Amino acid sequence: MIIKYFVVGALALIIVSGCSDDSSSNTAVSPKVDQSASTEADVRKTKTETTTIEIGKDYHSFGNPESIKVKHLNLDLTVDFTKKILLGTAQLDFQKIDPKAKQLVLDTRDLTINGVSANGKPLDFTVAKADSFLGAALTIDVPADVNDVVISYQTSPEASGVQWLTPEQTAGKEHPFLFTQAQAIHARSFIPLQDSPQVRMTYDATIRTPKDLIAVMSASNDPDTERDGIYEFSMPQPIPSYLIALAVGDLYFKSMGERTGVYSEKGILDAAAAEFSDTESMLIATEKAFGPYSWDRYDLLILPPSFPFGGMENPRLSFITPTVIAGDKSLVSLIAHELAHSWSGNTVTNATWRDLWLNEGFTTYLTYRIMQMIYGDERFEMEAVLGRQDLQADVDSLAASDQIMAIDLRGRDPDVVFSNIPYEKGALFLRELEHKVGRENFDKFLLGYFEKFAFQSITTEQFVSYLEQTLLKDHSTKLSKQRIQQWVFEPGIPDEAPVPESDAFSVVDQARNAWLTGAIQASEIDSEKWVVHQWLYFLNNMPDKLSQEQLANLDKAFSLTNSKNNEIAHSWLLISVNNWYQPAFKRLHQYLTSIGRNKLVKPLYKALSQTPEGKLMAQKAFNEAKEAYHPLTVKANEGFVE
Ligand code: BES
Ligand code: ZN
Repeated sequence: MIIKYFVVGALALIIVSGCSDDSSSNTAVSPKVDQSASTEADVRKTKTETTTIEIGKDYHSFGNPESIKVKHLNLDLTVDFTKKILLGTAQLDFQKIDPKAKQLVLDTRDLTINGVSANGKPLDFTVAKADSFLGAALTIDVPADVNDVVISYQTSPEASGVQWLTPEQTAGKEHPFLFTQAQAIHARSFIPLQDSPQVRMTYDATIRTPKDLIAVMSASNDPDTERDGIYEFSMPQPIPSYLIALAVGDLYFKSMGERTGVYSEKGILDAAAAEFSDTESMLIATEKAFGPYSWDRYDLLILPPSFPFGGMENPRLSFITPTVIAGDKSLVSLIAHELAHSWSGNTVTNATWRDLWLNEGFTTYLTYRIMQMIYGDERFEMEAVLGRQDLQADVDSLAASDQIMAIDLRGRDPDVVFSNIPYEKGALFLRELEHKVGRENFDKFLLGYFEKFAFQSITTEQFVSYLEQTLLKDHSTKLSKQRIQQWVFEPGIPDEAPVPESDAFSVVDQARNAWLTGAIQASEIDSEKWVVHQWLYFLNNMPDKLSQEQLANLDKAFSLTNSKNNEIAHSWLLISVNNWYQPAFKRLHQYLTSIGRNKLVKPLYKALSQTPEGKLMAQKAFNEAKEAYHPLTVKANEGFVE
């Protein structure tokens, strides 16, 4: 299906033309046209905006799966910590969709291709000139009788999807550590492949490491494996490339239940297993509500603090930031989230990065549901309100075009376009559907959806069409096509969207107001029973400007500068930067130089960059921390310290 944009000033009408089984027409506000295009991406963007958007086309891959589709990957890699490279071979088995196809096109970024062969005979190949964020196409000439190729290659020490940590940058300080982060388009920086979420493949891998270290992957892992430096993996279910993951380190395993366990460095293993001890119950509850878990085991890998995300849903083995080990399970919705991706994301996958909301919106919706099943209504309500506030902040600050769930990402780096829209707007949309048709009916719909599209990668339009043929048909008096179109293809939040509310937050509002008006001192706030979410709500809804006296008053009463909870500390440090509260700055420096999770550090760098004095502090912290930051965290924040 083809959509045409007719740019009329800043507005465009999207008209659906062409036809397929998922025909649906829609109008939407177009991306703003930047007349002063200067960067490579800007030029590309202005070029693409006046042309057609092809639904289902992956604008972020050079791969040619429509002619030749990779089906299986066999990796054999040696991990060289001295040179900071992965070196070895990737064998790709493929299917010729077009029997006459003569070339296999793959994605690469900063890879050195040492040779390509088939049946032991060398094949011709070319590596194109690299694009700044898509990398370089690798085109291999494939003879008629060839259905698999072996590529000998090595990665660059700067590979965007790999972080190499020195022993000093780990908890144990004795051994180096390595981990990969492939989503969205970084798998190509450590494996030459068709790096598109619509290409699913099974994989096998042999990973060769220094003898005392252990390798784990998003595949079958053996917790009792001998530490002999050779590790074998297999992923028998077809997965998209962004879910291929590897970590190597001085790892240990602790079981948390029949199907769940945790891997981490020794020092934090017990704390992690205690913090995440509800993982097994979450797994059981989710299966009961939304259908069978398709991935055998569900383990967690706790990474060093430089991990740039909160979590990553690598199948069978979610990668998790240690910053959520709070000691009181207050931040475990992250685990619910990564687990939920086993259904929405890993089983039913977005076909392109424009469709990311199908992964993240469904997952965020499921996360709330899991939290409600495991921890009850109060926790669920508080988290829903906080999520709604995060969404509002983005709606208030993002360009209209970036508030559209099915976002136009043509010519843009997906790393740069990261917001709450696919997450919280997606979840709110699904919650509205749930409220309109009733939970029981909606759960049936979800169950059917996960079953129908299992192990497929689908577009927004396929989902909308499925929704129209199922739920909309059955509940035509309660749902409308137009309303669905509005949610998915228009910016903002539709009027009369569900409004999450929490009684536990009303008392916080009262306390904050009483304190702000001077009716009570901070020390008089009855906060003894407050949970982390209430503290976050208390802080996140403070007025922009507070006096030094007010800040000192709060800090004295609640020791906020010394909060051990990384989310509370984040909220407090942000307030401190915005109000130049210097007593918190030592902690701020320590925070920025010990955590690399982008969601926690980026807003702080951004706030600091607003003033010359702040920028100096940001530069000092960034320069000190840069070595240990992940390439993604460096990329996201270097602009603030220039
Ligand atoms: N899959 C995402 C992380 C991601 C998204 C990486 C897009 C690259 C591109 C992961 O499941 C996620 O959403 N992580 C969040 C968790 C949070 C919403 C609970 C994070 O890291 O903050
Ligand atoms: Zn997610």
